[in-house]
Amino acid sequence: MAEYQISTNEGGITQITISGAVASTDSELFRAFSHLSSSKCALVNFLELSEASEELFTRLEDVSSRTKIKVIVTKPEFVTKCNKIGLQTFPTTKSATLSHAGDETLRLLIAQLRDVPILNTEAYKLIQHVASPDANFPELEKMLQNNAGLCSQILRTANSSYFMRSSKAETLQQAMVTLGFAPLRQIFIYNFYNSVGNFFGVQKDTVEHGQDCAKLAEYIAQSAGASQAECAKIRLIGLLHDVGRQALAFFFPQQYEKVQHLIRVDKNPSYLAELVVFGTEHQSIGSILANSWNFPDYLSKVIADHHYLKATDWNKLSLPVFCANNFLNQRDGEPFSPYYHKLEGYFFLKRAELPWKDIDAEFNEFLARPQEF
Ligand SMILES: [Fe+2]
Ligand SMILES: [Fe+2]
Repeated sequence: MAEYQISTNEGGITQITISGAVASTDSELFRAFSHLSSSKCALVNFLELSEASEELFTRLEDVSSRTKIKVIVTKPEFVTKCNKIGLQTFPTTKSATLSHAGDETLRLLIAQLRDVPILNTEAYKLIQHVASPDANFPELEKMLQNNAGLCSQILRTANSSYFMRSSKAETLQQAMVTLGFAPLRQIFIYNFYNSVGNFFGVQKDTVEHGQDCAKLAEYIAQSAGASQAECAKIRLIGLLHDVGRQALAFFFPQQYEKVQHLIRVDKNPSYLAELVVFGTEHQSIGSILANSWNFPDYLSKVIADHHYLKATDWNKLSLPVFCANNFLNQRDGEPFSPYYHKLEGYFFLKRAELPWKDIDAEFNEFLARPQEF
């Protein structure tokens, strides 16, 4: 017979700790699962569990259809069984509790985001249209006709030297056809991000950090011989990489003060400080936002990975952003990760020679050059 104990942890989350061997006839234990069903989220602790019948996992799956469950477990066979029924597993109570807090942060953030006016902007509607399978130029033209700013931006870009038209694009249609959907989408995302930036307001430092990161990451990519298309993607990722941080700081200003304190005083990197306070970090939030706004896949993938660099398939895009970001953090006296080897790795990947002798001086000199954003 298994033993169990029900408790409530600091965060007010119900936890059931089960020890010993669970048989399929352990009806008292299964009845106790009803305590979990009455709360929104719960923890199940299997650290002392020695054996378990299939019935335990069937019952748990049933409870998980009503209550968000995180399981604390380390034995590989139980981890596999939990994952099979779609339950997240964690090695400690602390990590499982933080993960619940992260889910809650995300839920609150998404609920608040629904009420904000940014999703009514024209640029946002244009992004949605370009991302849809029936995107077409006549419809886009109709949507753009009253937006002089965007129209002239599209014409200017189509007539820039990069697109090498033999004659000037005179109409919006011609300009859009020259550009194609991917660059148009980038123009709309820049515009949308400007509205997001205005909406998120006073976070001047984060906005400037994004702009510097965009410029420097693009400079690194250009210096390694990346194509124009690749450079355009890298610039956009650089600009948006910390959008999750802006969102967290905007929606939860008091908690974000604690994060800033942990960064300043304890020298924690931003994402670790956020994990302690919110149970999630700005990379995950940024990636979820990018997905929910229908941005291209490369944006959400690289935003999600810009501190850890786990997804090596994205290295051609993520490495220049990683290097630029950490150079800027170092320059600004923020915690940073060493980036020199990653820079070498990126140039190796691009089969190019590192052109700089004194990286600090040359990056600073590049950033000081007057340039438009
Ligand atoms: Fe970041
Ligand atoms: Fe950053």
